Amino acid sequence: MAAQRWDPHLYDDRHAYVAHHGGDLIGELDPRPGERILDAGCGTGELTAALADTGAKVLGVDSSPQMIDRARQRFPHLDLRVADLRELDVETGFDAVLSNAVLHWIPEAPAAAAALAGALRPGGRLVAELGGSGNIAAIRGAARALRTELGLPAAAETWYFPTIEEYSAVLTDAGLEITGAWLFDRPTRLEGDDGLAAWLRMFGAPLLAEVPDPDAFATRLSDRLRPLLHHSGSWWADYRRLRITAAKPG
Ligand SMILES: C[S@@+](CC[C@H](N)C(=O)[O-])C[C@H]1O[C@@H](n2cnc3c(N)ncnc32)[C@H](O)[C@@H]1O
Repeated sequence: MAAQRWDPHLYDDRHAYVAHHGGDLIGELDPRPGERILDAGCGTGELTAALADTGAKVLGVDSSPQMIDRARQRFPHLDLRVADLRELDVETGFDAVLSNAVLHWIPEAPAAAAALAGALRPGGRLVAELGGSGNIAAIRGAARALRTELGLPAAAETWYFPTIEEYSAVLTDAGLEITGAWLFDRPTRLEGDDGLAAWLRMFGAPLLAEVPDPDAFATRLSDRLRPLLHHSGSWWADYRRLRITAAKPG
C-alpha cells in the first residue's frame, strides 16, 4: 500500500469537518478543569485546543511530524508531540483519553488499544470515534471496480473498520470495560464541486496505490459516484462511525 501522507494545509483548508464532527466527543468525555487528558492522534490540534479551553491539561500526540508542526504553529501554547500510538512512549496516569478519526488508520488495533489503556490511570476513561464496519462502502466499492477495469491490482487497503463487537473485544483485551458503543451512518458533506476528488487526495492513498494518473482516476470515480453521493448540491461521503466509550477499572 502507498504510505499515507498527511498534508496539514489540505486538511485544515478542506477537511476541517473531521474535527468539527469530533467536537461532540468532548461533551461525551465531560472534561473537568485540571484533569490530564491525552488527545491520541491530534492532527492539527483543533480538538486538543478545545480540550485545553475547558481547563484540562492536555497532551496531543500524532505520528505525523507535518501535522504536529502545523498544530504547533496554530497553538503554540499546547503540549504537542510526535508519537506513534503503536509504540507510545509518553508519561502515564491520564484521567482521560480522547481519539477522533484516528484508530481506523491503525490496523495494529491491539497495540494501539494497549497504548491507550496503558496511558490511563485506574478509573480513567476513554472516548473514541473511528470509521466503523461498512464505512465508505460505496467509495471503496466503486474504486475497486474502477481499479479492476484499469487493470490495476487489488488495493491492499489497510483501513480497520471494526464492528462494535470486534472493537469492544480489542478494548476489553487491553483491560478496559466498555461503557457505551454506537455504530451509526453519518453522511458527511464534502465541500466544493471537487469534494470527492479532494477527499481522495487527502485520505485516499490506500485506493490510489499504483494508479498512474490520480487526477484522472478521481475524475472517473467522481463521475461514477455522482448519482449516488452527490445530492442537495453537495458531495456526501458515506461515512459510518463507531463511537465507543470505556473505562479502566479503578
Ligand atoms: C483524520 S486525522 C484526525 C486528526 C484529529 N484527531 C482531528 O480530529 O482533527 C487522523 C490523524 O491520525 C494520525 N495517525 C495515523 N496513524 C497514527 C498512529 N499510528 N499514531 C499516531 N497518530 C496516527 C494522522 O497522522 C492524522 O493526523
